[in-house]
Amino acid sequence: MTLCFATNNTHKVKEIQALLGNSFKLQSLNDIGCREELAEDQDTIEGNSLQKAQYVFDHFKVACFADDTGLEVAALNGAPGVYSARYAGVQRNAEDNMQLLLKNLKGKRNLNARFRTVITLITQSGTHQFEGILNGTITFDKRGTRGFGYDPVFVPEGYQQTLAELDLDEKNKISHRARALQKLVLFLKQHE
Ligand code: IMP
Repeated sequence: MTLCFATNNTHKVKEIQALLGNSFKLQSLNDIGCREELAEDQDTIEGNSLQKAQYVFDHFKVACFADDTGLEVAALNGAPGVYSARYAGVQRNAEDNMQLLLKNLKGKRNLNARFRTVITLITQSGTHQFEGILNGTITFDKRGTRGFGYDPVFVPEGYQQTLAELDLDEKNKISHRARALQKLVLFLKQHE
């Protein structure tokens, strides 16, 4: 079965292809001739994930899936959530986003947070969503140089290090994206 992953991140495509095995052939947006930037202007993570997958399915008539992720902080009522990438503004700068997050958390006792990924799969037989969650806490002590986004201020549950201090392999074992992907892969294998 051929399946499009609505991304142009070739690293992500390779990683998921390895998880899926040979019975699925994964294609990127580029591979199916989709050159446009996919809109993601919904107000939920589910909505954005669905919007991207639906666009590809409707315009390119291929089975596909798309992901969307946000950092949800309990003391901020789930913010930055769906706005994680542009929390501090349209420049989408990770450093600015982390600074704003720490500023908004000043004086808060509850530093619980989670990353949440939603993958939407659309095929001829319907639409399915898969959620992956990584629980943890926010630290004011920004640490580590690996990863991206909010990794330097996020300490996963059961760890002392921030995500930015973990090896990529280790992060990929526990991450929100990996957990949502595992559910997708299981579903695809069961419905092959
Ligand atoms: P996207 O939906 O994967 O593009 O993620 C949206 C935003 O969430 C990113 O721009 C980052 O700010 C944040 N984010 C998503 N995944 C991670 C992660 O694994 N570590 C840190 N930040 C992340």
